[in-house]
Amino acid sequence: MIKARGLQRRFTSRGRTVEAVKGVDIDVTEGELVGFLGPNGAGKTTTLRMLTTLLTPTAGEARVAGCDLRADPVGVRRRIGYVAQGGGTGPECKVAEEIELQGRLYGLGKADAIARGKELTEQLDLSGLDQRLTKTLSGGQRRRLDIALGLIHSPKLVFFDEPTTGLDPQSRANLWEHIRTLRSEQGVTLFLTTHYLEEADTLCDRILVIDGGEIVAEGTPDALKARVSGDGVVLGVDEDVTTRAAEIVGRADGAHDLVTTPGEVRFRVPRGDTALPALLRAFDAEGLTMQSMQVQRPTLDDVFLTLTGRSLRDSDGGDTDTADGTAANGTAADDNDGNDSDRNEETTRVA
Ligand SMILES: Nc1ncnc2c1ncn2[C@@H]1O[C@H](COP(=O)(O)OP(=O)(O)OP(=O)(O)O)[C@@H](O)[C@H]1O
Ligand SMILES: [Mg+2]
Repeated sequence: MIKARGLQRRFTSRGRTVEAVKGVDIDVTEGELVGFLGPNGAGKTTTLRMLTTLLTPTAGEARVAGCDLRADPVGVRRRIGYVAQGGGTGPECKVAEEIELQGRLYGLGKADAIARGKELTEQLDLSGLDQRLTKTLSGGQRRRLDIALGLIHSPKLVFFDEPTTGLDPQSRANLWEHIRTLRSEQGVTLFLTTHYLEEADTLCDRILVIDGGEIVAEGTPDALKARVSGDGVVLGVDEDVTTRAAEIVGRADGAHDLVTTPGEVRFRVPRGDTALPALLRAFDAEGLTMQSMQVQRPTLDDVFLTLTGRSLRDSDGGDTDTADGTAANGTAADDNDGNDSDRNEETTRVA
């Protein structure tokens, strides 16, 4: 569904150059739900805008939904849906009208647009709301409307930019359910960006972690957690044997990131539960006693911290203004025919 190679985007404004995306490779297969995780300013939206033809890459190439990004941007747009960061629908428009209008923009006849709209509003729990003005919707309802708009033409591949940012935990969980249903009932392939660790962890089959415009890790949430940082282990020992205990741990298979303080040895190891019996034997053989032990399963934040030296949590719940500063109508049908659109650099926030 997506195969991108060396995708790169540089912005130059007022003599200053930002390497927003530094040559990323992305592979997504049909039916996958892939998360693109990274802190503010990492390059998520820029990558998404390239993949959805809204922004021309400085270098690199991609096939999206079977069409070449550069040679056939119109083909890409016909086959994909895009729910932009922050979404944005006309505030004075009724829900049903908005959906019908969107359908007609995508070339559906009036009757088909209405029928498809009805189907989507039912699926997304918006049925009772079709006569409401969109400005009166709650955050979660509005986000579901954005999704309906992005799905009007039954795309096989949908891009979501920060689908749940700004929603309360309950609406967020509700939206996750809708996203899962889309995948399971309609076989839609989904590519979403997020800076919420929980979202990436619980929702996605696979995660790509981006930082500073580069993909720094990828894998299933479990594989990422296991491979990159491993379990955290804390051993308590008598203070006077801390150094000897640390030496034993240092010889253990796969132990890394060893930190000692008097009476305590902390380290990481791929699997804490399987490493401990061998360690206990080694302690015994040297006549040392382990006073306590604790194994902590890693979180995605540990993964990020290991990779970048920074915590992704710092950006959790941070501000959410769109990097492109627009109130796009939430689809790839923006009237920007695949050309560069640095139109918003005035409002761009450098994270
Ligand atoms: N039109 C633009 N002109 C200049 N710089 C830009 C433009 N768009 C994005 N950038 C810069 O490129 C970098 C990546 O931005 P991008 O919007 O892709 O990040 P993001 O990962 O989506 O962040 P967020 O989580 O805040 O949405 C940032 O430093 C941003 O300021
Ligand atoms: Mg963004």
